[in-house]
Amino acid sequence: MSHKPIRKAVFPVAGLGTRFLPATKAIPKELLPIVDRPLIQYAVDEAREAGIEQMIFVTGRGKTAIVEHFDVAYELEDTMSERGKDLGVLDSSRFTPGDIITVRQQVPLGLGHAIWCARAIVGNEPFAIFLPDELMIGDTSGSGAGTGCMKQMVDAYADVGGNLISVLEVPEDEVSSYGVIDPGKTKGALTEVKGLVEKPPIAQAPSNKIISGRYILQPEVMRTLEGQGKGAGGEIQLTDAMAKMIGTQPFHAVTFAGRRFDCGNKLGFVEATLALALEREDMGAEVRAMAQRLLG
Ligand code: UTP
Repeated sequence: MSHKPIRKAVFPVAGLGTRFLPATKAIPKELLPIVDRPLIQYAVDEAREAGIEQMIFVTGRGKTAIVEHFDVAYELEDTMSERGKDLGVLDSSRFTPGDIITVRQQVPLGLGHAIWCARAIVGNEPFAIFLPDELMIGDTSGSGAGTGCMKQMVDAYADVGGNLISVLEVPEDEVSSYGVIDPGKTKGALTEVKGLVEKPPIAQAPSNKIISGRYILQPEVMRTLEGQGKGAGGEIQLTDAMAKMIGTQPFHAVTFAGRRFDCGNKLGFVEATLALALEREDMGAEVRAMAQRLLG
């Protein structure tokens, strides 16, 4: 069966990033760099690898620098060219005109509400969602080495269609901090989803598969979000809207072959910086030596 291709991705980037203050007072969290690439760039690169063409940013006050990042920086490019510098470093931040679209979420009422703000642009197509503060790095060993999370999901989508979320297995004593799936049948990396539970007590957790920040959803989720009131924390929750779609449409989880760094919190951000710096060909050896020196 052929399913409508995933051509659009929504990046909710209107959150306040309070866990990173004061760094995020004037700079969006999504522009914090891991070594030399902002978080949003990693997410957009992952989307492009998966064949997605249109990037929809749900922004808010103080977030315009994200859009600037994907614009042409005329003065910079002109000066660099005059000085004979290679402009290749800017390639990944270039886009065909029309492929970067922004909508504003005037008040940060929650992730579900942010996604709903993109309803007119998403239209009647399935779409992807990326939470850019969750940095997903594909396994570098084995077959399909380095394949990004969304590409793994789009490949699975080609088989099963419907709605897909990416999940990761965590030690059982950590499940209470996350959204968890109630699993049905599993085949390889694909698991049927029978239910979604937000932050369950350990004893009641239906699995140790936690929802991570990548989704492929059918456009009907927008209608569900529309009629939905506020949930936990007084916010409009995406998990609640997805849970309502289970049973009406196919719903699967893809266990991501790779690592997730939660860069929305400081420890995860430092871990990602260190891990990726250590793996880089241009600086890994020096970073290792530096870390050893620091550890004494
Ligand atoms: P987070 O839960 O990380 O919230 O949102 P936050 O506001 O960014 O950060 P803290 O908790 O205050 O430190 C997850 C994703 O959803 C977006 C955020 O920008 C982030 O990418 N988001 C969240 C919105 O776009 N709008 C919202 O109302 C809430």
